[in-house]
Amino acid sequence: MGCCHYYAPSEGGDAAFSVDVSAITFGRGVLKEAGDHAAALGISRIALMTDPRLAGLAHAATVKDALEAAGLDVVVYDEVQVEPTDESLQKAGRFAGEAGVDGFLSLGGGSVIDTTKAANLYSTHPAEFLTYVNAPIGGGQAIPGPLKPHIACPTTSGTGSECTGIAVFDLLAMKAKTGIVSRRLRPSMALIDPDTTRSLPKNVVAASAFDVLSHALESYTAQPYTRRAAPARPRLRPMSQGANPWSDLGCREAVRILGEYMVRAVDDAADDEAREQLMWASTLAGIAFGNAGCHAPHGMSYSVSGLVRDFQPEGYPAELPIVPHGMSVIVNAPSVFRFTAEACPERHLEGARLLGAETRGATPEDAGEVLAGEIIGLMRKTEMPNGLRGVGYGAADVAALTEGSFPQKRLLDNAPKEITRPVLSELYVSALSYW
Ligand SMILES: [Fe+2]
Repeated sequence: MGCCHYYAPSEGGDAAFSVDVSAITFGRGVLKEAGDHAAALGISRIALMTDPRLAGLAHAATVKDALEAAGLDVVVYDEVQVEPTDESLQKAGRFAGEAGVDGFLSLGGGSVIDTTKAANLYSTHPAEFLTYVNAPIGGGQAIPGPLKPHIACPTTSGTGSECTGIAVFDLLAMKAKTGIVSRRLRPSMALIDPDTTRSLPKNVVAASAFDVLSHALESYTAQPYTRRAAPARPRLRPMSQGANPWSDLGCREAVRILGEYMVRAVDDAADDEAREQLMWASTLAGIAFGNAGCHAPHGMSYSVSGLVRDFQPEGYPAELPIVPHGMSVIVNAPSVFRFTAEACPERHLEGARLLGAETRGATPEDAGEVLAGEIIGLMRKTEMPNGLRGVGYGAADVAALTEGSFPQKRLLDNAPKEITRPVLSELYVSALSYW
């Protein structure tokens, strides 16, 4: 791939990239197809995994009816915890083991899909919990064999989890977010029905859309796969392999769609066209970051969500403080892109142009500011927090935020510029408030 200078070969760098394709069925009303797809995957007794809120909504009934109509035994687990923890994953894993299922369907946001990946893993290949968790926190062991079939049905246009082999959770003992990463965790198929986002509150749509935007911009500006050290064995090439020509396709189209439809989809729940387009952008960005990996805005988000004090945004359950994932990511993004633009200014400018910015006449030196300005403009239009201050942090929290996120090496090392501890602190300082 010497045709693009971003992918120029480098000494000791990888010379190939992998494409892991997700099986996807996308369209209005496809939840009704769940039964036939499950039967085709050979499932006869299926765990329908969801959360308590979704369990009472029509989509859960639609899926359950479709599965039963196809002759499957359905066992419902509606206790998935939003923002899952090691404890909640193990509880779901025990359920799956005792239920004796031979397949899974997850219906929900990232928390539900990730919990189902873990329940499938630990009920299929039982092990002490930390065995498969990312090193150095966990043992980082490879998953020894295939998992059971898993149909993932996202109900927010943000997570992308239906297309990735990543499950993220809070490790309670360490008060840290970490995860399990393996191609074997990738769902067997994603059943993506844009109608599921119709009832979502404005703030939830906005936060999810910014998660998608950051997936796409981070994957597009990640370090090129040719600069990541070549793997010791081909099978060890990571899924977070860096920017590559395949993920670039999804990133560019996702950013373009968001530039055109994000504000419409946030402002008007009845704008079916805009919400469908956001769902498609989410899918494209999920395919992209599942093959490229995110970088610093996501790496920094872990402590922004983990150290939350009293922030309670509209549209989310009132009982506990939360910095929703998309918000915890996007508050870092302008600060990060101002810093990383120097490494690949043309990609930062292209991102801004796809979002709708006028970039004619912009110089490489302008790239970070132009992209940051475009993101900040969208944050203001959709009434997002104005940076870290907007979600309850101040300058006195920068040290703790830095300590919490610096261990996220998989993400920080995927940035196009080196992120040392002092740099990370500076990035948080610059993210305190944008207006
Ligand atoms: Fe994300």
